[in-house]
Amino acid sequence: MPAVSFQAVSKTFATAKGPFQALDNVSFDIEEGEFFGLLGPNGAGKTTLISILAGLARASSGRVLVQGSDTQSEFAAARRKLGVVPQELVFDPFFSVREALRFQSGYFGIRHNDAWIDELLYHLGLADKAQANMRQLSGGMKRRVLVALALVHRPPIIVLDEPTAGVDVELRQTLWQFIARLNQEGHTVLLTTHYLEEAEALCGRIAMLKNGQVVALDRTSALLKTASGNVLQFKTDSALPAELAALARVTGRIVQLPAHDALEIERHLATLRAAHVDVQDLEIRRPDLEDVFLHVMATASPLPQPERIERTEVAA
Ligand SMILES: Nc1ncnc2c1ncn2[C@@H]1O[C@H](COP(=O)(O)OP(=O)(O)OP(=O)(O)O)[C@@H](O)[C@H]1O
Ligand SMILES: [Mg+2]
Repeated sequence: MPAVSFQAVSKTFATAKGPFQALDNVSFDIEEGEFFGLLGPNGAGKTTLISILAGLARASSGRVLVQGSDTQSEFAAARRKLGVVPQELVFDPFFSVREALRFQSGYFGIRHNDAWIDELLYHLGLADKAQANMRQLSGGMKRRVLVALALVHRPPIIVLDEPTAGVDVELRQTLWQFIARLNQEGHTVLLTTHYLEEAEALCGRIAMLKNGQVVALDRTSALLKTASGNVLQFKTDSALPAELAALARVTGRIVQLPAHDALEIERHLATLRAAHVDVQDLEIRRPDLEDVFLHVMATASPLPQPERIERTEVAA
């Protein structure tokens, strides 16, 4: 039985401008023990899909099963198996960190949970903040508390919606070590992130969403193999000639140019030399997940999906 099964999930929001389809017939399974990445640009539908998984929003059609439990008709059973770290920073400002964690334990009917709460606080770098009021925490610390809250009932499935947004480098590393350990111990992890190097390093399989549709779904290693050729990367203060500017990915001074083979690398370099572009810190590297992601988003059409499962249509 899959840990999570999305079955022909569609979601239409009623908006002032009329109906807006945020999810269009999304189907895939996440197997037990996987570390699974859900990627996509802003507005692709990732948080909407996670909200439906968490039972916080209703699918307009289709259904979601969590270890076989339907997120709507068996809400409590499905919810108990999930630890969800939401994208938005929401919590009760009147509690201290420890009180919030105890309260959340109580919500799941768990008493005397302080040993696990202490372990969570330690691994999330919050041990000295246990008595602090939630209002007094910085943005990154609030996010750490959200991670602790999600894990308080030791859920078999951990869902992280951009858990590292606004989190400093050191905590990102400790957080990933901790989540990776939980994954090794058998927890299933579903992660969304815009840090594609994190997804590449952590996720065994990845689905990419675009405009509410699944446009790529494969093992991370297989996705990386789809990007053939090389990337020519360098720094420059000069403007690129038009023919290269059209191909290049430019981030500040850093320029990245796709190049299929040695001949194309030579051609790019000759063009740069002829245009008197000053090239610094030149390197040739293999495409990474960011290259694959950009390529998929630029070219993708939706993957074929199984037949739609008709179910109650809910407008909003
Ligand atoms: N309650 C709502 N009413 C109307 N439209 C909504 C609602 N919630 C989300 N949407 C729209 O649905 C689309 C998907 O939003 P969603 O939050 O799922 O995107 P996302 O992939 O999580 O993006 P991001 O990377 O920015 O977090 C967006 O166009 C958004 O504006
Ligand atoms: Mg989101």
